[in-house]
Amino acid sequence: MKLIAFAAMAMAYGLTSCMQMEPPQEVDFVGEVKPLLETRCLECHQHQYVCAGLNLETRSLAMKGGRSGAVILPGSPHQSLLYKVLLLGHESPVAMPPTPEGMEQEGTQILHDWIQQGAKWPDNVRLVPPQEWKNKHS
Ligand code: HEC
Repeated sequence: MKLIAFAAMAMAYGLTSCMQMEPPQEVDFVGEVKPLLETRCLECHQHQYVCAGLNLETRSLAMKGGRSGAVILPGSPHQSLLYKVLLLGHESPVAMPPTPEGMEQEGTQILHDWIQQGAKWPDNVRLVPPQEWKNKHS
């Protein structure tokens, strides 16, 4: 009896104190980051309309950065201008995206995690600016 009670206690204790934590979900570039950048950023950061010298169409262009230099430092979202501009208030002229709504919490988190996890961006994935969406689908 005693042994069974102990085993049950140990089990219960183990279950509550050693619960396996979900590993942080790896951000999926194509499924999560790409649509976010395309809908919120590409309008003004692409070959035909290059604001601040920053073109976000491909990884190599994005990594090159804009007039201020690199905007993505893999592993360090808080050093990355691409993330920092999302946190700026409307009083700043560089708050991105420069729309009244700004970026939702969820989108900000996705870009944070993506940069933190190394800003993975497959070489063959090219972002499409909204201006070219209808051409692509017609
Ligand atoms: C409506 C157009 C527009 C959209 C949409 C837009 N930007 Fe910008 N972006 C600009 C302009 C204009 C500047 C230059 C602002 C200034 O300093 O006057 C800029 C500057 C920047 C810079 C600074 C670059 C440098 O080297 O100084 C970053 C980083 C940036 N944008 C990222 C983003 C991100 C990320 C998004 C999407 C969340 C985004 N932008 C959406 C127009 C836009």
